[in-house]
Amino acid sequence: MEFFIGVIAVFVIFTALLWLLVPAWYGLPPISVRRERIRRALELTNPQAGETLYDLGSGHGRVLVIAAKEFGLEVVGIEAGPVQRVVSRVNALWNGVSSKVRIEAGDFYKSNLSDADIVFAYLTSDHGKRLGDKLKLELKPGARVVTVSFDLTEWQPAFFERNLLFFVYEI
Ligand SMILES: C[S@@+](CC[C@H](N)C(=O)[O-])C[C@H]1O[C@@H](n2cnc3c(N)ncnc32)[C@H](O)[C@@H]1O
Repeated sequence: MEFFIGVIAVFVIFTALLWLLVPAWYGLPPISVRRERIRRALELTNPQAGETLYDLGSGHGRVLVIAAKEFGLEVVGIEAGPVQRVVSRVNALWNGVSSKVRIEAGDFYKSNLSDADIVFAYLTSDHGKRLGDKLKLELKPGARVVTVSFDLTEWQPAFFERNLLFFVYEI
């Protein structure tokens, strides 16, 4: 009995460490935007059902589920954290949207975003230049980008919501 409790304790500690350390390695906390803020951010991008949204660093999938369930979007989450990816898949399944949700493992800087209609990113200002350059190269005309808490360096936002720190960009 003690052996099994020990195994479970090691598993829980290992999972918790992975949950915290992978985002920390990428310089970010493993926290999500609040639901009402996500809804507001998505509304600002004028989403049309069937469009494809990418969440760069999708965490435990809150944005993905809201975008798929409430806005009828096809969604792709790119996430480095393995525990976050497992939780996202369970989250999508639980909410009945797993057919609309794809979760990719790895670094979003290595992913091709050319089929995105909407990009959502809740990162830090360290990403403003590098991400802005990548999006400029890859996104198609008509695509929209919403960044939360940071802006894209050298880009002019089509809309800026000061209270919630949202920046909306149109290609
Ligand atoms: C602040 S959380 C945002 C989660 C989610 N977008 C939300 O708002 O609910 C940032 C997430 O991005 C992930 N991340 C950071 N840099 C990344 C990178 N270059 N590639 C993939 N994932 C990354 C972290 O592991 C973390 O889960």
